Amino acid sequence: GEIININGKQKVAWEIAAKVKDGDILGVGSGSTSYLALVAIAERIKSEKLSVKAITTSIEISMFCSKFGVQQTSLFEHRPDWLFDGADEVDPDNNLIKGRGGAMFKEKLLMSSSPVNYIIVDESKMVQKLNTRFPVPVEVYPQALLHVEKELKQLGANSIVLRPAKGKDGSIITENNNLVLDCNFDEVYTGLEKDIKTITGVIESGLFIGYKPEILMAANN
Ligand code: A5P
Repeated sequence: GEIININGKQKVAWEIAAKVKDGDILGVGSGSTSYLALVAIAERIKSEKLSVKAITTSIEISMFCSKFGVQQTSLFEHRPDWLFDGADEVDPDNNLIKGRGGAMFKEKLLMSSSPVNYIIVDESKMVQKLNTRFPVPVEVYPQALLHVEKELKQLGANSIVLRPAKGKDGSIITENNNLVLDCNFDEVYTGLEKDIKTITGVIESGLFIGYKPEILMAANN
């Protein structure tokens, strides 16, 4: 017969979809992995006529919710019962770097608002120390750029790059109309996330330290 090769991320997407209960408010993350989980959830909502509402972390995933007929709500009305999202790096204590997609502010706001958090990754995201393969992204209010750069250097940033836009001139503008600085630090110490956050003009960073999400590992095949 035909050999059907179902990849690991698809299997975890079904695992996530299986957790959905009628009436749930779901936090929906961004990125290709979250997308797969959303598709699997949308199929269950449709076939079982479930009443589920999503709170999304980006315009892109919000548009996919609309496309797949998944109802949406907002943090004005609800808190998520649980959420799923991807990540760029995961360390042995389940600390994360997120924000490759620039959506880390809303991702962190949702995770802070949610009692149960699932992070879906494959082996390639696992690192011994954060900031190994990915920079630490920092979302910055545009006019604070020079001030924030100076302060980040004080915290041990040895390279700071204003994230360029893709396919056009200029830099990335986030959904909150801010800029993103991609930083490499001499050391990502435990208090670094809080120290970055205390800089005036910083909206949020992509460091997620101490959130203790449950990591769902997708096999690579
Ligand atoms: C978005 O800002 C990121 O935090 C994503 O969660 C992350 O980049 C994961 O994306 P993939 O699932 O596509 O790797």
